[in-house]
Amino acid sequence: MRYISLLAILLLFGLSTYAVAPAGPWDAFNFAPNSKAVYPTAIRQVNGTVQSSQALVANSGSATLVGRGSWVALDFGVEVGGLISISFNTVKSTSSISLSFTESPLFIRPTASDDSSFPSANTTFDGVLHVAAPLKQGLWQQPAATLRGGFRFLTIVNTADASITLSNVSCAISFMPHVSNLREYTGYFFAEDPVFSDKNFLTKLWYAGAYTIQTNIVPLNTGRKVPFAPAGTWFNNASLGVAGPIIVDGAKRDRAVWPGDMGIAVPSQFVSTNDLIPTRNALSTMFAAINPTTGALPESGPPLSQQGSDTYHAWTLIGTYNYFLYTGDLVWVQSIWANYTKAVAFLEGKVDKKIGLMNVTGLRDWARLGGGGINSAGNALLYRVLVTASELASHVNNPSLATAYAKNATTLKTNFNDVFWLSSAGMYRDNQTTTLCPQDANSFAVVFNLTTSSAQDASISRGLTKNWNSIGSIAPELPNTISPFIGGFELQAHFIAGNDNVAMDLLRREWGFMLYTPLSVESTLLEGFNSDGSIGYRGDRGYNQDPAYVSHAHGWSSGPTSALTFFVLGLTVTSPQGKTWAVAPHLSGLNAAEGEFATPLGVFNARWSVTTNGFSLAVSTPQGTGGIVTLPVKGGVLVDGKTVIPDADNTLKLGGGPHSVSVSL
Ligand SMILES: *[C@@H]1O[C@H](CO)[C@@H](O)[C@H](O)[C@H]1NC(C)=O
Ligand SMILES: *[C@@H]1O[C@H](CO)[C@@H](O)[C@H](O)[C@H]1NC(C)=O
Ligand SMILES: *[C@@H]1O[C@H](CO)[C@@H](O)[C@H](O)[C@H]1NC(C)=O
Ligand SMILES: *[C@@H]1O[C@H](CO)[C@@H](O)[C@H](O)[C@H]1NC(C)=O
Ligand SMILES: *[C@@H]1O[C@H](CO)[C@@H](O)[C@H](O)[C@H]1NC(C)=O
Ligand SMILES: *[C@@H]1O[C@H](CO)[C@@H](O)[C@H](O)[C@H]1NC(C)=O
Ligand SMILES: *[C@@H]1O[C@H](CO)[C@@H](O)[C@H](O)[C@H]1NC(C)=O
Ligand SMILES: *[C@@H]1O[C@H](CO)[C@@H](O)[C@H](O)[C@H]1NC(C)=O
Ligand SMILES: *[C@@H]1O[C@H](CO)[C@@H](O)[C@H](O)[C@H]1NC(C)=O
Repeated sequence: MRYISLLAILLLFGLSTYAVAPAGPWDAFNFAPNSKAVYPTAIRQVNGTVQSSQALVANSGSATLVGRGSWVALDFGVEVGGLISISFNTVKSTSSISLSFTESPLFIRPTASDDSSFPSANTTFDGVLHVAAPLKQGLWQQPAATLRGGFRFLTIVNTADASITLSNVSCAISFMPHVSNLREYTGYFFAEDPVFSDKNFLTKLWYAGAYTIQTNIVPLNTGRKVPFAPAGTWFNNASLGVAGPIIVDGAKRDRAVWPGDMGIAVPSQFVSTNDLIPTRNALSTMFAAINPTTGALPESGPPLSQQGSDTYHAWTLIGTYNYFLYTGDLVWVQSIWANYTKAVAFLEGKVDKKIGLMNVTGLRDWARLGGGGINSAGNALLYRVLVTASELASHVNNPSLATAYAKNATTLKTNFNDVFWLSSAGMYRDNQTTTLCPQDANSFAVVFNLTTSSAQDASISRGLTKNWNSIGSIAPELPNTISPFIGGFELQAHFIAGNDNVAMDLLRREWGFMLYTPLSVESTLLEGFNSDGSIGYRGDRGYNQDPAYVSHAHGWSSGPTSALTFFVLGLTVTSPQGKTWAVAPHLSGLNAAEGEFATPLGVFNARWSVTTNGFSLAVSTPQGTGGIVTLPVKGGVLVDGKTVIPDADNTLKLGGGPHSVSVSL
């Protein structure tokens, strides 16, 4: 009963079953709508005379916009995206309306949407969607090319003199076109937070990250128009790659494949919906667009097709491993292997012979300043590329290549530490001519295992906290900015360093701010924000001082979803499909946590709690798998009721199936 058979379309892709997560109290925090046709849940604002506006909530009747300029702003309750339809009950031949859309309530305006086509300081580049006279009585449907991929608020304005009576205002959700029940996750997570003002913060945040990614999984032909649409318009009907559905960076924009963003989004996607076909389509899109001469991969997918980023090139390669780890899809890895190895060689070709580190010359990146030359973040990514390339090479039966990649990884790690470690700061510096210690490279170094001791991890964790203010971690390499993308790696770094309370503190500050601020959508996660909490990410770094251009549903900010599962719950896969796995709970000041994810091998579930006399854990994994449990406390251990002496590092080996473990102090 935990299994449902899949839609025919997914059978075509070779996955035969999906495990559906069990029902439980966590379902109350799932933000995904229970229907693909959604109606407003509230009236946010009315201007002029609007009769019976409340009738538009949940489609309970009709409302009348009396006279030119009267308008109603509808609230869908959460971030949504798709095509609007409206029933016109009473209209004249001269009647017309306009629609404007926004994610943030800051930009609810009768005259303009928030921006997605292009960032402009006037904040009104996109303008409104005009529905011109004559309006016809009956059901009107928004033209597909004018799709709005992400919004929470819709403003309907009467732009003619006569009154208009309308009803049945709804949005047909366009994201996740291949899934009929958006709430049917393969994973779940539940933990109460004894510290935060909302005790369900952690569970809500896990689901907010998951829902954010769902809004980023879109039909193939719904990319933003490039070259950008002229002022006063927007179009989302460009083709996004080689196959759909496909994972993009954001619901509203850019609506293009960005492999760096996937470095955070895909692990969170795995633990929640396990909807990895769109991920494979995105990676295939990148490999198909390799430069046949140089081996360079694009920075982003079409129609944007940005070029010239060594770091995002690396992320496509790292993402290839992540996809393989979760799915075990070796057939696909073999299909891209020739281009994959060529792309690894492209980065290896940039390694300076004397210094033994990559000279980063493709400078585009996640928006940070600097980043070129012999740069630590770029080299940390190259290290991860080589480690994972070695792993992949062994799976495609090329042990000599696996050894060669591993050897280069080892050399790179040594050089990295020699060149970048700044002992006076107890952190890694950005490059050889600076003392700036960036958030990205230091977080990557811990997460990707470039450090050589736990003392180094602890020092970096401590150093990173010096960048904090009350609402997050300010990136030294992008001043006045809080980047929840890089923050997602910092979060992992604190857990890996064993500073669980520091990790939880960052979670509560940064994601607590994002999830509850009334400046955003309170359901999906912001692309980034100014360090004073204002909306205006990258105002002076590409976004032309346009706060309306910021995305409020960006998968790269969903780091806590995977971190809560992988670290707090402590459940991870350690080989493809979870043939081997680990459970290493980080108690983090909580009393209990539970959760689940699935792979093609089956369901992985863990539940732990701190008990009056110790700790207890129930773990259930597919038969035929095996894993290692790291106990978070020391004491007398019972496994399935029998006394067991754990290994010296307080670990136990378990086979698949259900097990109960308890520790009495
Ligand atoms: C609100 O409606 C009044 C007319 O009823 C109009 O004068 C005013 O400009 C409108 N305000 C906005 C913000 O649309
Ligand atoms: C906003 O600025 C853009 C230029 O960035 C311009 O094309 C557009 O017409 C302006 N919009 C309005 C409503 O003035
Ligand atoms: C209301 O809108 C839905 C589309 O969301 C449509 O299927 C239905 O036919 C409409 N009902 C009426 C009475 O127009
Ligand atoms: C997108 O839609 C616009 C407006 O309907 C149309 O002119 C354009 O050709 C479409 N582009 C594509 C790629 O279909
Ligand atoms: C590999 O790259 C070539 C260009 O060199 C391209 O034509 C081909 O489609 C790519 N293969 C895959 C599977 O993406
Ligand atoms: C890195 O490459 C750039 C551009 O080719 C070059 O100017 C610079 O000297 C190189 N740096 C090193 C350390 O090799
Ligand atoms: C070295 O790092 C500093 C600080 O991030 C940066 O300002 C500078 O541009 C970097 N150098 C290069 C060659 O990128
Ligand atoms: C390992 O590094 C050397 C020196 O930079 C390089 O020539 C070689 O191609 C690399 N090997 C692989 C498999 O990338
Ligand atoms: C980290 O790297 C070292 C070699 O530098 C290796 O011995 C260790 O197993 C690695 N740790 C993990 C967790 O991969």
